[in-house]
Amino acid sequence: MTALAGESLACHDIAVTLPGASGPVDILRDVRFSVARGEFVSILGTSGTGKTTLLRVLGGLLAASSGKVHWHGVEVTGPPVGVVTVFQDYTHSLLPWRTVRRNVALGIESQCSREERDERVDAALSMVGLQKRADEYPWRLSGGMQQRVQIARALAMEPQVLLMDEPFGALDAMTKASLQDQMQQVQELTGTTIVFVTHDVEEAVYLSDRVLVLHGSPANVGLSLEIPLSRPRHQVTTKEGADYLELRHRVYEALGHKHE
Ligand SMILES: Nc1ncnc2c1ncn2[C@@H]1O[C@H](COP(=O)(O)OP(=O)(O)O)[C@@H](O)[C@H]1O
Ligand SMILES: [Mg+2]
Repeated sequence: MTALAGESLACHDIAVTLPGASGPVDILRDVRFSVARGEFVSILGTSGTGKTTLLRVLGGLLAASSGKVHWHGVEVTGPPVGVVTVFQDYTHSLLPWRTVRRNVALGIESQCSREERDERVDAALSMVGLQKRADEYPWRLSGGMQQRVQIARALAMEPQVLLMDEPFGALDAMTKASLQDQMQQVQELTGTTIVFVTHDVEEAVYLSDRVLVLHGSPANVGLSLEIPLSRPRHQVTTKEGADYLELRHRVYEALGHKHE
């Protein structure tokens, strides 16, 4: 199959069936969508709909029961080169005996010279605003900073694609807002394709070029909504706009929240 020009991800009729307590359970069925290069796409759905399962399939960490995933025209049969996943639980992904700098270097140590490694680690730390904490140990940092270390590690790998599973889910509202804005900047600077899983409607609309709503059981894509809000976006003014509120309304409706 040839990739369409500008296409990063193509997901063809993915189905996933997993073993449940009383037999096999269909988690995903007929999931199809594509993502353009450099696009920021959120996958939104209530808890237990299958978002993490879908992201694992996209990252080549779980084989679909049927259907195919292509990244840049190449079929996924395992974790693809250039596609990096940032998991939800940052507390278990950082090594406590390594400094921030050496945690960020983890994914590239064996691949490049010392000079190049240092350069890439510094660039990644500055993108998430952590240059000054480079020589500290991660357990001395707040939860939000630890999550930024994990994101910096992914950025140091200079991925073409970032897959992120509710990366800000465990953080307080202020920290979350500041990390959302940092992700906007990273996206603008690097042009990375980002597939971002969240259960937070405001976060999805605020960050994305397009929002996909997963719904049903088994789940499929119930809504694919373009978010044509101008960039850069702003936590206060963007969220006050009538266009933002209208998009947010449509996403809530797709999630099954009806206006009585
Ligand atoms: N390894 C697994 N084996 C069996 N069932 C699973 C497995 N992982 C997830 N599930 C089930 O699949 C459904 C979707 O889970 P998940 O993808 O984690 O949802 P979400 O990330 O949207 O909360 C849930 O019902 C969950 O219990
Ligand atoms: Mg999940």
